[in-house]
Amino acid sequence: MRDLEVNNLTGAEETKLQYEYMEQAKMLVKEREIQAGHKLTCCVKTFGCQMNARDSEKLLGILTDIGYEETEDEHADFVIYNTCTVRENANNKVYGRLGYLSNYKNKNPHMMIALCGCMMQEPSVVEKIRKSYRFVDLIFGTHNIYKFAELLCRSMESNSMIVDIWKDTDKIVEDLPVKRKYSFKSGVNIMFGCNNFCSYCIVPYVRGRERSREPKDIIREIEGLVADGVCEVMLLGQNVNSYGKNLNPPVSFANLLREVNKIKGLKRIRFMTSHPKDLSDDLILAMKECDKVCHHMHLPLQSGSSRLLSVMNRHYDKEQYLALVDKLRAAIPDIAITTDIIVGFPGETEEDFLETLDVVKKVQYDSAFTFIYSKRTGTPAAAMENQCDPKEVKRHFDMLLKEVQEISAAKAYALEGQTMEVLAEEQNEQDPSLITGRLSNNSVVHFPGTPEMIGHLFQVKLTECKGFYYLGEVDADA
Ligand code: 5AD
Ligand code: SF4
Repeated sequence: MRDLEVNNLTGAEETKLQYEYMEQAKMLVKEREIQAGHKLTCCVKTFGCQMNARDSEKLLGILTDIGYEETEDEHADFVIYNTCTVRENANNKVYGRLGYLSNYKNKNPHMMIALCGCMMQEPSVVEKIRKSYRFVDLIFGTHNIYKFAELLCRSMESNSMIVDIWKDTDKIVEDLPVKRKYSFKSGVNIMFGCNNFCSYCIVPYVRGRERSREPKDIIREIEGLVADGVCEVMLLGQNVNSYGKNLNPPVSFANLLREVNKIKGLKRIRFMTSHPKDLSDDLILAMKECDKVCHHMHLPLQSGSSRLLSVMNRHYDKEQYLALVDKLRAAIPDIAITTDIIVGFPGETEEDFLETLDVVKKVQYDSAFTFIYSKRTGTPAAAMENQCDPKEVKRHFDMLLKEVQEISAAKAYALEGQTMEVLAEEQNEQDPSLITGRLSNNSVVHFPGTPEMIGHLFQVKLTECKGFYYLGEVDADA
């Protein structure tokens, strides 16, 4: 594993270099196309979070630019898995699917297989792939993803597995091609990495230290997206609340939101994820002031036990978290609050778990992602000796899930009959007479409409709640 990049190019010079590699890659793809006798296809599979989804759009941008045709089918000529390693089961899925890919590759001599993303930042994973999955052509990590075009050229010209993983980087490379999954909405990275080192989490080890993009680069990207038909952006970072602290001069996330809110033609702004310890009063004020910012806050709790929160290295306790929720609701009464919760962190007692359940009941989350604690080698929690009994963990997990689901169903039904603002996003796949849109709180609504409505906001009456989604109709009187 390399410590840092080997060249001293600036971000702009690196972008230029990568475009040169894309030109070279175009020729290599053409040659292979002639050999294969058909247009080459590529398939990008994403595991994990929204950050990875955005990275995959960048990979696909390069692949389609150099001449590959996109397909969902893993029988493609180029398959890349953009992996996640936040929990063990994410890793297992990748190994399982690699087995299938080797069969496909045996039948297609032109096929190339690449692996990238968080899982590849773990030396033990790369070791295992080198040994047991020798048919993989290219492996790279999270820090050199912008070198994809260059690595692809190297891989196409080589007969052996290319592995290039870096420990960290301080570089941010802008302006490489992107192919978005949705025409009307897009993720936008505002920062990379995480400095928090929550004791259970592997992310800081695989995504490196926090680096924020310059506000001008973010604004320029969003303006470009809006010009290309995007009406909603999701500002992405592991901890957006600490955005800009290391920029010169520093810029707060609240002020970034205010700037993004001024962009003409943009309709909605979302962001993810907020760490409770860094959520400032000014951010709450900015959310209230900025008309485009959705009234939705994803605020990971992880545990309701102050004792466990301290061992988790979260830097807040149960009371501070509840006070924050009160503050948010006082400022923005209709705000939707969602969360992440871990069950079975080492040493979790019945008492600790009941504290979590208590917070869930008090906060009344609109929705919550619940996870069973997964031991990640290299994190402080993995070395803790008091790992929980899996049977108890499962019992707690089921109890929590039931509570969470009951609350979110009740919250969803409470909106039935109300008229709310909906962004029309796409034509319904099953019934083309319907448009599918989203409320500010991210819930899905299907309502009669036509494709011209896509990208516009409507007042929609939520006539029927179907549990996870609504049926509605445009409210002409509203
Ligand atoms: N085990 C289980 N869940 C985890 N998460 C992060 N690390 C782990 C782990 N080791 C969860 C946290 C985080 C979400 C993205 O994944 O709840 O907020
Ligand atoms: Fe992991 Fe904590 Fe960073 Fe989130 S804030 S990515 S949970 S270390």
